Amino acid sequence: MVYQVYLRSFADGNGDGVGDLAGLTARLPYLSDLGVTALWLTPWYVSPMADGGYDVADYRDIDPVFGTLADAADLVAAAHAHHLKVIIDIVPNHCSDQHPWFRAAVAAGPGSAERTKFWFRPGRGESGELPPNDWPSKFGGSAWTRITEPDGSPGEWYLHLFAAEQPDFNWDNPAVRAEFVDILRFWLDRGVDGFRIDVADTLVKDSALPDVASLAPGARLPWEDQDALHGIYRSWRALIDSYPGDRVFVGELWMKPLPAMRPYLLGDQLHTAFNFDFLGAPWEAGRLREVIDGTLDAIGAAAPWVLSNHDVTRHLTRYGRASTSTRWQPDAGPADLALGTRRARAAILLMLALPGGCYLYQGEELGLWEVEDIPAELIADPIFERTGHALRGRDGCRVPLPWQADAPGFGFGPADGTPPWLPQPREWRQLAADHEAGDDTSMLALYRTALRLRAALAAADDASPGDNRLDWLDSPAGVLAFARPGLQAVVNLSAEPVALPQHAEVLLASGPLDAGLLPPDTAVWLSRG
Ligand code: GLC
Repeated sequence: MVYQVYLRSFADGNGDGVGDLAGLTARLPYLSDLGVTALWLTPWYVSPMADGGYDVADYRDIDPVFGTLADAADLVAAAHAHHLKVIIDIVPNHCSDQHPWFRAAVAAGPGSAERTKFWFRPGRGESGELPPNDWPSKFGGSAWTRITEPDGSPGEWYLHLFAAEQPDFNWDNPAVRAEFVDILRFWLDRGVDGFRIDVADTLVKDSALPDVASLAPGARLPWEDQDALHGIYRSWRALIDSYPGDRVFVGELWMKPLPAMRPYLLGDQLHTAFNFDFLGAPWEAGRLREVIDGTLDAIGAAAPWVLSNHDVTRHLTRYGRASTSTRWQPDAGPADLALGTRRARAAILLMLALPGGCYLYQGEELGLWEVEDIPAELIADPIFERTGHALRGRDGCRVPLPWQADAPGFGFGPADGTPPWLPQPREWRQLAADHEAGDDTSMLALYRTALRLRAALAAADDASPGDNRLDWLDSPAGVLAFARPGLQAVVNLSAEPVALPQHAEVLLASGPLDAGLLPPDTAVWLSRG
């Protein structure tokens, strides 16, 4: 049960308005009470923050805005004392344009060994004024930026699949491979329990850099050479396994169809990956069932489930829209937050009833919604500028957490500190952690109870190892009903109340039952009759 901490927005210990390690360490009791067993921290490295820390300038130190190496050591020790594992984000696809290797590459000039650690190429056109190929940046615009050479002349272009401040490494270069093994070792030596690999599937590029437009329809994209990744991940896994203790190795695979995940999960590579099919599925029984079956068929007990993360519209808001599968769009339409809340309550009971591991994204346990009215001048996500303001990007799911209903900034930082780096909606007073902690009907109470119950059921299930089955039960259209060891879960995604299957008792419900019937957008856990 992994809880994702988006560090900048979790808790501010030093009063500068930005979340940090001291803030996180102070809030560990909350996470351990919640019932999670591991934390995944978004990047804590030295970074100019052009992409919230996913632009790393020094992989072996902590950014001063987050703290110091000593704070990181304190956090790891304190987390372990709370029986929480610490998984850190590793960003191997690209670094920051302020990374010493990239600066050296720019300074060293065309044809230098330094430039072979990245993808530098001359431009096309008469005077090299056009990008070397047609690859798009995933944040909008071209994936190429032209540099000025040290002598002041317009120079080569470099590849960046994301922002221009994030030059892509060339993974064909053995120096890059060796560097990352060394970085992993650096952090393993400091006691971290695992790694989440950022954009795990795009490291290796086809060095011919063919135009995308020249590819046959359906051909693999030239930055998605999955085969070449096996050797890399196999060697990382061997390194991780050489350290004592159980360690976790998670890959971020962006919206891949499930079969494409298989190669990473052969046993000697990643332990698991994110299930973006589940995250992207609409609130619709047929599609959810298809994704659940597809996931279990593909990877069985290693199945990972996730509803939200720091890159997508919070699921509470998605589920309140007319189109519930929308991740983020300029015209996604208004959200009915009451409906979204009801569905989010049902969705967490669905997810936590499934076999396998789950990821929670900070704030979902409080019922936070996507903040869609952040003033344009405060938007920090590079997507906003790179798309010419067509997309507002991901800041709406990164708004600092409300901890205390009656404190300035809802207790995100010290009372006399700088306000949180993004403004929090006034209505979040009701969603502050201290407010919800005293309310049995709150989202937080539901998460705590469900996580506790899930752990108890899993512990009981250990008596019959291997029983990771999920048996679908007969149910009316629009209803998901399945049996698991010790439990039946029923989720009503239809518009009508439905009768419950035969059961001994109601263990937990996401909302009140209606004369014994399960209302729409409500889920229930039953003990088996
Ligand atoms: C991943 C991260 C995202 C980041 C991008 C580039 O998708 O989750 O936040 O912007 O990679 O590093």
